Amino acid sequence: MAATIRGPASDPYAAMQMKTREHRRTHGCEAYTFEDGQGLAALSAKIRPARVIELGTALGYSACCLASGSPYTLVDTIERDPIHVQLARQNIAEVNLASNVTVHLGDFATVLRTLTPGYDLAFFDGFAPSTEVLQFLMYLLNTGGVLVCANIGLATQSRGKACERCLKTHSSGNRCRSSKLALRL
Ligand SMILES: C[S@@+](CC[C@H](N)C(=O)[O-])C[C@H]1O[C@@H](n2cnc3c(N)ncnc32)[C@H](O)[C@@H]1O
Repeated sequence: MAATIRGPASDPYAAMQMKTREHRRTHGCEAYTFEDGQGLAALSAKIRPARVIELGTALGYSACCLASGSPYTLVDTIERDPIHVQLARQNIAEVNLASNVTVHLGDFATVLRTLTPGYDLAFFDGFAPSTEVLQFLMYLLNTGGVLVCANIGLATQSRGKACERCLKTHSSGNRCRSSKLALRL
């Protein structure tokens, strides 16, 4: 079934995105909300993933967009700031997605090691990615799985280049080499 591409005006989670922007101004933190949530929702609706892993919950906006892919999509999302985790859990419950989205409190590297492989879609939206974290996400993905990585531009030049190489190594772009696809935003 074709995915429906919706414009920002019809974003059901737009209020959560606004709250995140407001929160960042007062908290002075790194909770820069992902701007193209509807692009993520469209991708998730196309893939209809059973399991999604997200790094960088902030207040839960992009996790809800990812969870909207299908009624049975389950999202694990990781966040180290306890205030963000508490607000995200509240926001997610308010849009009735608490049974679809699990917010894990902790550092990416620590929590990732506690998760069982078998994800269909992975989204990195922490601050700048590292090769270690990207490699671990590729390991957690199923054959045919898709990794979407934001914020490579925020890494130092050498670290950014290493991440680019890592994504290329693990994905041919047409899934031939590893049967997994890595996309850089
Ligand atoms: C860019 S924001 C995420 C925005 C969110 N995806 C959205 O669209 O609203 C990045 C978040 O990742 C968290 N974060 C950054 N590095 C982390 C790490 N190593 N472990 C866990 N959380 C981290 C920050 O606290 C911040 O809330």
